[in-house]
Amino acid sequence: MSKLKEKLYTKIQAWRPRTAKLIKEHGDVKLGEVNIGQAIGGARDVKCLVTDISYLDPMEGIRFRGMTIPEVLEKLPKAPGGDMPYVEGHVYLLLTGDIPTEKEVAEVADEFRKRAKVPQYVFDVLRAMPRDTHPMTMLSAAVVAMQRESVFVQKYNAGINKNDYWDPTYEDAMNLLAQLPEIAAYIFRMKYRGDTTIPSDPTLDMGGNFAHMMGIAKPYDDVSRLYFILHSDHESGNVSAHAGHLISSALSDIYYSISGMINGLAGPLHGLANQEVLSWIQGVMAKMGGKVPTDEEMRQFVWDTLKSGQVIPGYGHAVLRKTDPRYMAQREFCLKHLPEDPLFKYVDILFRVVPPVLLEQGKAKNPWPNVDAQSGVIQWYYGVKEYDFYTVLFAVGRAFGVAANIIWDRALGYPIERPKSVTTAMLEEAAKAASAAKS
Ligand SMILES: CC(C)(COP(=O)(O)OP(=O)(O)OC[C@H]1O[C@@H](n2cnc3c(N)ncnc32)[C@H](O)[C@@H]1OP(=O)(O)O)[C@@H](O)C(=O)NCCC(=O)NCCS
Repeated sequence: MSKLKEKLYTKIQAWRPRTAKLIKEHGDVKLGEVNIGQAIGGARDVKCLVTDISYLDPMEGIRFRGMTIPEVLEKLPKAPGGDMPYVEGHVYLLLTGDIPTEKEVAEVADEFRKRAKVPQYVFDVLRAMPRDTHPMTMLSAAVVAMQRESVFVQKYNAGINKNDYWDPTYEDAMNLLAQLPEIAAYIFRMKYRGDTTIPSDPTLDMGGNFAHMMGIAKPYDDVSRLYFILHSDHESGNVSAHAGHLISSALSDIYYSISGMINGLAGPLHGLANQEVLSWIQGVMAKMGGKVPTDEEMRQFVWDTLKSGQVIPGYGHAVLRKTDPRYMAQREFCLKHLPEDPLFKYVDILFRVVPPVLLEQGKAKNPWPNVDAQSGVIQWYYGVKEYDFYTVLFAVGRAFGVAANIIWDRALGYPIERPKSVTTAMLEEAAKAASAAKS
């Protein structure tokens, strides 16, 4: 058993009695009520999911295993010559809740290295698809094609104790995570770089190797590390995380679950939003004739956008009520590496101008920027100008968090998910009864 798996097992054993006690002794304690608005409105704010991997505080932003983004970026061991932590160390943190030592990070990197060989048929599947297929479709198809590799399915079919489900799930998760960056880079080079794919370099860490396979020089290795870490998890109620958890709750294996997670992320209201931000900013640039506008000119442009009935992309959030710390982490990167980039200058002006305008308009509950207001600018700067690919990068990152959640779901024996539906007539009946009770 690997050191990480051993540590995880110790943590799981210590955690299980907590969950068991809550169900057995406090299962009927209420966490809240559900109203008609929530039943129709996408279960917003309904507290009915449990995860210890991350928690989204409306005022603070995401905490991974209790740690804020600045804390995670500061405390995790860093790749030599870079400013950003190893993705491998972040995986260790997500799985165990502990900050790893350098040695522990090296062991995780070694474990990934041993699992990194992508089966040839995955590339064959990708090559058989029309080249203009969306890269998210390709990623999803590649992942589901690998389902035949599932260790969980083999063990399940052979007969396995429920308590041990997490073990082959861990095997599947680590195998898939080890291979996902190469599959993503392969899609990129095959589709957008004249089919000049670059073989993996096993001497490099995950972020370094991804930059190498993308064919992009430093500090893109740090961009990759930052990007994968920032996008890894955002609680479990967002569409991609929830889709992964839901599918896995049927004991479908990691490959089915992560492929479903990718499909959810592909929607324009979720992961795809980051490409919309960039095209909007470029529209602003074109209208301004490329020159850097004054704050007043930009203010006018933002008002014009609002008055034409459109939202300001990259601003607002369903849960957050302050600037997204994922935005701030990327902003700091931009200030260090690309402060003079024209696109970043626009983003910087928007950061000053948009929140007061949205506050003045008085509609958005959160006038501050979210993660998507920065991500595309960095990718564009380093030459990844194919918008369609941005969500693939998001998906690789998100897979780390969703896989950690699924392993823990299995470890704690979370059952198949099955919320109850009602009919519109039942809602009308409930509304009538509530009105009658009031009068
Ligand atoms: C993220 C988002 C979908 C959250 O939606 P939400 O939870 O419904 O947001 P709110 O409760 O604050 O919305 C209240 C009102 O403010 C408006 N609003 C919210 N964000 C806005 C923005 N960035 N620009 C203009 N208006 C906005 C909403 O459209 C809504 O208007 P309505 O009452 O006329 O329907 C929303 O803020 C948005 O559309 N942002 C821009 C797109 C974006 O950045 N998406 C990526 C999200 S990570």
